[in-house]
Amino acid sequence: MNDVTIIILGATGDLSRRKLFPALYKLIAQDKLKKFAIIGGAIDEATPESIVQKAQKFIPNFDEKIGQLIQQNMVYERVDFTKEKDFVALAKTVQEIETLHGLSGNRLAYLAAPANYFCLITDYLASSKLITRKDEKARPWNRIVYEKPFGHDLESAQEINECIKKSFDESQIYRIDHYLTKELVSNIALIRFTNCVFEPLWNNRFIDQVQITISEEIGLENRGAYYDKYGALSDVMQNHMLELLALIGMESPEKLTGNYIRSKRVEVLEDVEVVDGILGQFESYKDEKFVVAGSTTETFAALMLRVNNPRWAGVPFYVKTGKCLKKKETVIHLKFKQVDCLLTHGCPVPSNWLTLEISPEATFSLSLNVKKPGKSEEVIPVSMEFCHSCLFGAVTPEAYEVILEEVMYGEQSISVRFDEIEWAWRIIDTVRAKNFSLFTYPCGSNGPKQIEDYFEKKHGMRWRS
Ligand code: BG6
Repeated sequence: MNDVTIIILGATGDLSRRKLFPALYKLIAQDKLKKFAIIGGAIDEATPESIVQKAQKFIPNFDEKIGQLIQQNMVYERVDFTKEKDFVALAKTVQEIETLHGLSGNRLAYLAAPANYFCLITDYLASSKLITRKDEKARPWNRIVYEKPFGHDLESAQEINECIKKSFDESQIYRIDHYLTKELVSNIALIRFTNCVFEPLWNNRFIDQVQITISEEIGLENRGAYYDKYGALSDVMQNHMLELLALIGMESPEKLTGNYIRSKRVEVLEDVEVVDGILGQFESYKDEKFVVAGSTTETFAALMLRVNNPRWAGVPFYVKTGKCLKKKETVIHLKFKQVDCLLTHGCPVPSNWLTLEISPEATFSLSLNVKKPGKSEEVIPVSMEFCHSCLFGAVTPEAYEVILEEVMYGEQSISVRFDEIEWAWRIIDTVRAKNFSLFTYPCGSNGPKQIEDYFEKKHGMRWRS
């Protein structure tokens, strides 16, 4: 991180303004990113100054000096992603800037651009030699980051992967899922594999079901044009939710890094079966800007999945996500099987639940049964809880700081491998082919009320809140 050229393609877009520049600012402010140059490229007319100025409102306690430093180390060039000559010109600029700043040619190209440009950009990055094929160990390194969504179905993802394969080595490629950098998400594997009280129970003999929820209070926030083409299944289920499922379901990797962990995640996705589901759309959705009239895009999806392997056979994985819901929460609940109740009055004895809350708080808790105080044989559930901020303080890095840092270090476990992304799209394509019913729901609710018939009555489960 002391010698890097960061090339941001899509430097004037929303992601750059809200996430990438604030993350770069933080890395610089913490003195983590020291010797660097930033090259911004996009179709718009812009300057380093205008870009920093727009990012400023997403940077709390903005310090002018750091803003100046970014501007001094930044160049902006107009780039039309469909024109090879613009990439050739950009490559020349990059070379000049590297010479000027004494940088050795470690390059990180961040594609903060729509997925339909990914192939073209990949080809032009290669033909202009902005990024060259290198293996993992080669120095200076050249890496490419692809922002999500990576395609819109299996076929389009495969096409992009083919373009990448033609010109680059998979070890140079980072397909981003910012959930993989969240504090408690990166903790899941550690909690499982370093506590001997969990791993022996982590299977279908002891676990009754798994529930994963990503619920959001927010609606589309001016992203109607994008969202209407994707919907909840492709926007959140295909990536964040399936990655959480893979981390919960995976076998123990040899090491908790790069391809060791990615191979284990892939194995889980290969075994996923789509059993049932319902979709929802919040009531005022069709009034949102850029949503097409009569749109049937889902803003809510709840699915019942299975992972058909020896560890998980018979255990349902219930996954649910939606926008415009009652509360913002990302949480995983593992329900353990019930014990028989020979020893106590009051049957059935509540199940133990292990809950991993990823946001808004990073916590995990285990519910246990204890004797109700007094002269009684009744049991009541109590909760043992670990709260990240209570113990370690609230300051955890933003997802995009971690992404940039890990890419510069060359740690690939925070990114999604080519086969992993293809398996995830295969699952979503299967869901779409099943044409699950779409119901409406009021904003601020828990989703369509029909969820009760579909899940609670039909499958005898209850969503844990
Ligand atoms: C993004 C989706 O990937 O994740 C958004 O495109 C969604 O629609 C967001 O709001 C949720 O991320 P987080 O970190 O706020 O839970």
